[in-house]
Amino acid sequence: MLDEIARQLDALLPSLEEELKRAKSTSDLEKIRVGYLGRKGKLTAILKSFATLDPSERPSAGKMVNDAKDRLLSVITQKAEEFRKDEFASRLAQETLDITLPGAALIPGHPHPISKVLGEIEEIFTSMGFVSEEGPDIEDDYHNFEALNTPPEHPARDLHDTFYVEGGLLLRTHTSPVQIRVMKRQKPPLAIIASGKVYRVDLDISHSPMFVQVEGLMVGEDITFGDLKGVIEAFVHQIFSKEVAVRFRPHFFPFTEPSAEVDIRCVLCGGAGCRVCKMSGWLEIMGCGMVHPAVFEIVGYPTERVTGFAFGMGVERITMLKYGINDIRLFYENDLRFLKQFS
Ligand code: PHE
Repeated sequence: MLDEIARQLDALLPSLEEELKRAKSTSDLEKIRVGYLGRKGKLTAILKSFATLDPSERPSAGKMVNDAKDRLLSVITQKAEEFRKDEFASRLAQETLDITLPGAALIPGHPHPISKVLGEIEEIFTSMGFVSEEGPDIEDDYHNFEALNTPPEHPARDLHDTFYVEGGLLLRTHTSPVQIRVMKRQKPPLAIIASGKVYRVDLDISHSPMFVQVEGLMVGEDITFGDLKGVIEAFVHQIFSKEVAVRFRPHFFPFTEPSAEVDIRCVLCGGAGCRVCKMSGWLEIMGCGMVHPAVFEIVGYPTERVTGFAFGMGVERITMLKYGINDIRLFYENDLRFLKQFS
């Protein structure tokens, strides 16, 4: 009986080695291992035949099984080690990194031309002592019109110009309502600028339904039109150049009196007359004037003692003139070929 078991055990190793030759992966190997050493494996089957042995034969039979098991395990382990090495080597081969390849270039971003020029405008005024203030894009009729001395029948309130939103609110048509908000919470003297988006129902090569304005307001005792002129001229010379001529042309705004529009000598033709300045030699860049006493009354300022000036300009327009851009829509199309020129 013992001889029979010994014969069976000896047959296991060659047949295992034969199967191992055909194994292609670690998972094949695991199947083979289970086939020999698992609960239903060939070695376990031999163990079961111990029941037929004489008790005196069992210890030596047990030793034979254990020895056989060690031999089987050792060839399986050896094979497993080979697979591990092969698999590691092929993974290394697959995952190689060519460090000599050129890297992917990072394209650094830069501010949008409007942000860039807005920053320059703000810098010029804050360096003169103006303080930055803000107001909401969604305004009420009172701040956008009424408190700015713009009665209900005024053409500026025309439905065609203003975007109305729910609840009697509107998208501010200019940054001037910030004047009212600041003066209502602050006593004179003051000098502020307020920049931000404004909205009008308008669209062509020089008008966009949303654009950016910068508002300025200076209030105190003895503020004159001369101060307004000095501030605006200093601003124009810094944002364009020292040589650019500036003129103040009488105009009308409900919330300033007197009012003016500021023109600069055409930066494209130098004043000779061209398509951009419509042969006039001048370009309009902002509206301004002395704060209307009716506005001071509304915010509760003493009209007999304080005076002030205000101005408002479109940042897109300044940017277009500064860089010779002829279509406002270029600012909003996000065409990199356009934007890259401002890096
Ligand atoms: N709010 C005016 C506009 O948008 C500009 C302006 C501002 C005029 C301040 C005078 C004073 O046209």
